[in-house]
Amino acid sequence: MTAAVRNDPTTVRVALDARSYDIVIGRGLLASLGTRIAALRPGAKTVIVSDENVAKHHLTAVEAALSKSGIATSRVLVPPGEASKSYRVFEQVCEAVIASRIERNDLIVALGGGVVGDLAGFVAAVLRRGLDFVQVPTTLLADVDSSVGGKTAIDSAHGKNLVGAFHQPILVLADTALLDTLPEREFRAGYAEVAKYGLLGDAGFFAWLENNWREVFAGGPAREHAIAVSCRAKAAIVARDERETGDRALLNLGHTFGHALEAACGFSDRLLHGEAIAIGMALAFEFSARRQGLAPMADAKRAIGHLAAVGLPTRIKDIPGSQLSVDQLMDLIAQDKKVKRGMLTFILVRGVGQAFIESGVDAREVRVFISEKLAEQ
Ligand code: GLY
Repeated sequence: MTAAVRNDPTTVRVALDARSYDIVIGRGLLASLGTRIAALRPGAKTVIVSDENVAKHHLTAVEAALSKSGIATSRVLVPPGEASKSYRVFEQVCEAVIASRIERNDLIVALGGGVVGDLAGFVAAVLRRGLDFVQVPTTLLADVDSSVGGKTAIDSAHGKNLVGAFHQPILVLADTALLDTLPEREFRAGYAEVAKYGLLGDAGFFAWLENNWREVFAGGPAREHAIAVSCRAKAAIVARDERETGDRALLNLGHTFGHALEAACGFSDRLLHGEAIAIGMALAFEFSARRQGLAPMADAKRAIGHLAAVGLPTRIKDIPGSQLSVDQLMDLIAQDKKVKRGMLTFILVRGVGQAFIESGVDAREVRVFISEKLAEQ
């Protein structure tokens, strides 16, 4: 941890030359959305893209914040859930945005979690060869991960996020009060991505989380602080490697195992993304500790202990429902991160806060490890 806990809004700059933008974090910020947009793009009209659940809670307040600043708005609502990241819904949103007479200088406002942000961001990336967009995240996961960094995408029959573009927003407005309506399970799943920033590169922040996670869950300044530190960490990585040719891959700590588990569960409510990442990070730590003693086992136990303490799953056997097989998981791992001559790329660790990219992991070694984990069931 590098800064004191604060009450007033925090601004984190994502420094990308002409595409730089602010992430503004604080409680009750939504009312300022109109003035912030008017200052950035005077005279722009907006289309709000959201899902039906989020709209019930927050759409009226967003529309009021925009109209108070004289900003014309229209809305496009999609069904909640990953199924909306489809070609069909993408087409519907594109057609609805065009029908709302949005021009090159107008804006899309993505109001929602990761699904809405990815979908609306991709629509913005391609419509009229690129429209500006603003992210208004409504989940903890979107606050600290998906709304920041410009990855936008829809899914293909071959896998998640395979059709997409890098397209940075012009503003991320993270009003932490919007998290008050989030089911606790969703908040906890998003917390896995917060813990990830400590585990991958900031041991001090991880120690702070170990001591303060209850306050983060309760809300208030500790929550805002955790979001700000996470966004600062992501902003720094994105600024030095926007297109993931190097360091940005560190953000995938826990994701190779995690995506395979998520896919094996059919991307269903059986295992939320953040829950899969929690198990994936626990596995990455344990795999690193066992791999020629790369990381101290004490660090693996500490990482796993914290994730378990907040109520996140950390073992494959924590996933409810049917048994998974090693062949199925290895096939999914191979699809997610292509095998090159039998070697896989993983984000491994030398300890808490010390992740690194290892592109020479023998697929046979991973198979043995997963078989042992499955045998623990
Ligand atoms: N969610 C990982 C990234 O934005 O690179």
